[in-house]
Amino acid sequence: MEFFTAIQDIGVYVKNAKRNCKTIGLVPTMGSLHEGHLSLVRAAADECDVVIVSVFVNKKQFSAGEDFDKYPRDIKRDREILESANVDVLFAPTNAEMYPDSLATYVEVDAKLANCLCGATRPGHFRGVTTVVAKLFNICQPDMSYFGQKDAQQAVIIKRMACDLNFSTGISVMPIIRDNDGLAMSSRNSYLSENERIQALSLYKALCAVKKMVEQGEVCSSRIFRKIKQILISEKDIKIDYIAIVDNESLQPVETIKEKTLIAVAIFVGNTRLIDNVVVDGES
Ligand code: PAF
Repeated sequence: MEFFTAIQDIGVYVKNAKRNCKTIGLVPTMGSLHEGHLSLVRAAADECDVVIVSVFVNKKQFSAGEDFDKYPRDIKRDREILESANVDVLFAPTNAEMYPDSLATYVEVDAKLANCLCGATRPGHFRGVTTVVAKLFNICQPDMSYFGQKDAQQAVIIKRMACDLNFSTGISVMPIIRDNDGLAMSSRNSYLSENERIQALSLYKALCAVKKMVEQGEVCSSRIFRKIKQILISEKDIKIDYIAIVDNESLQPVETIKEKTLIAVAIFVGNTRLIDNVVVDGES
C-alpha cells in the first residue's frame, strides 16, 4: 500500500492511475477505522480499480467545545487495517498540508439542508464537511466516492454538493453497519462506559420499534415521534438532542410518513453524542 501525506505526491499517483485508465474509488474517513469503514472499502474495491482511503481529522467540521482534541487517532493501527484490506493508497495529510493558510473559500451549504438535524446544534459543521470533501475530490479525482448512511444528513448534503457543483465522482451511500447488539458502529462508541453502552442501545431499540410501526401501517409522524421519545427517556443518562422525521432529500419535516422518510435521532449518553437513523416507506 502506498502511503502519502503530501498532496503533490498523491497527485502524481492519481495522474498515473488516470493515464493507465484506472478507475479510482475514494473512501474519505477521519480514521479510527472500524467495520463500517471497511464496508465502504469493500464496496470501493468491488467497483473500482484503485482504492484510496483518506484519514484526516478535519478541524473545520468541529465546533468550539466539541471533541476535536480527544477524537481517537491511531494512524499506525489504521495503516495496518488498510494494508490487510488490500487498499492501494492511504492518504493522511497533516492539517498544515490541507489548510496551509487560513481559507478564504468555503463550500457553503443552503441553510435548509445545513441548519436542521445535526446542523442545528453544530453550527458550521456541514460547511467544514463539504469544504474538506470538495478538496479531497479535487485531490483524489475519484470516479466513485463512498459514504456511510449512519451520517444520513452528511450523505444527503454531499450528494447534493456533487450534483450542484458538477463533481465528476459518483456518490455511493452504504448501509449502516452495526455491532451484534445493534449499536451503529462509530469511532465515538469508544467513549462509552459499559453502562452507557447498554443505555445507548435504546437508540436502536427505538428505531426498530418505529420501523415496525410503519411496517404495520402507522403513518402519523407525531405518534412515531412520541414512541421514540418514550423509549429514550426511560434511560436515565440519555438526553435527546433531536428526533427528526423528514423527507430523505429535502430534509424538511413531514407530518405523514411518505415513500422515503428519514427518521433520524441524535442523543447524548453522558457526554457522548450518538446518531442513528432508519429510512422508512409509508407508502408500501
Ligand atoms: O464522515 C466522516 O468521517 C467525515 O465527516 C468526512 C466525510 C471524512 C469528512 O471529514
